[in-house]
Amino acid sequence: MKTLIPLLENHYIHEPQKLRDHVWRVREVALRLAAVHHIDRDACEVAALGHDLFRARPQEFYREHAAHFRLLRPEYADAPLMYHGAIAAAWLQAEHGVEDQAVLFAVADHTTLSARAALLPLAQNIFLADKLEPAKKGRNNQKILTLAETDLRLATLMLVEQMIDGMEREARFPVSQDLRDAHRILSHANHT
Ligand SMILES: [Fe+2]
Ligand SMILES: [Fe+2]
Repeated sequence: MKTLIPLLENHYIHEPQKLRDHVWRVREVALRLAAVHHIDRDACEVAALGHDLFRARPQEFYREHAAHFRLLRPEYADAPLMYHGAIAAAWLQAEHGVEDQAVLFAVADHTTLSARAALLPLAQNIFLADKLEPAKKGRNNQKILTLAETDLRLATLMLVEQMIDGMEREARFPVSQDLRDAHRILSHANHT
């Protein structure tokens, strides 16, 4: 896994500076949380660097690659960018032999989480770092980040709730089923 890190870093040489800066900040936040919560450092770095490998591609790229990796979902027919995480995970597995499910799910589901990723600390970590890195301006970002230092799951639940509330209020996009599933699982886990 460790040998993959410089390869993934090199990938961003050809990507927009803005994306590279975001990914570098996500890595920093994610590694800090990983240290606090004893999450494997190399797995965390691979997932952080891997999460947005294909975030800056044309729509056609997403459609083609989602079909190639058999990832097509009717709900994303008009939102092909939603495939960027799943394509990155499929690519890491197919091209680099990554088999660690926590890494694959953290990368694939970093945008909305999902039922399978909701309770994985690495997936929670990448999800949080992606939305809360310092350049992201959310009202409660600092509060959620501070909470994440002591309770990763509760912080994840808080962010998921905030996202669902925001999406319902704005009514621009439907709330994805994955996000709703993650919410159900996280709230249930919180009461047990
Ligand atoms: Fe992303
Ligand atoms: Fe990202």
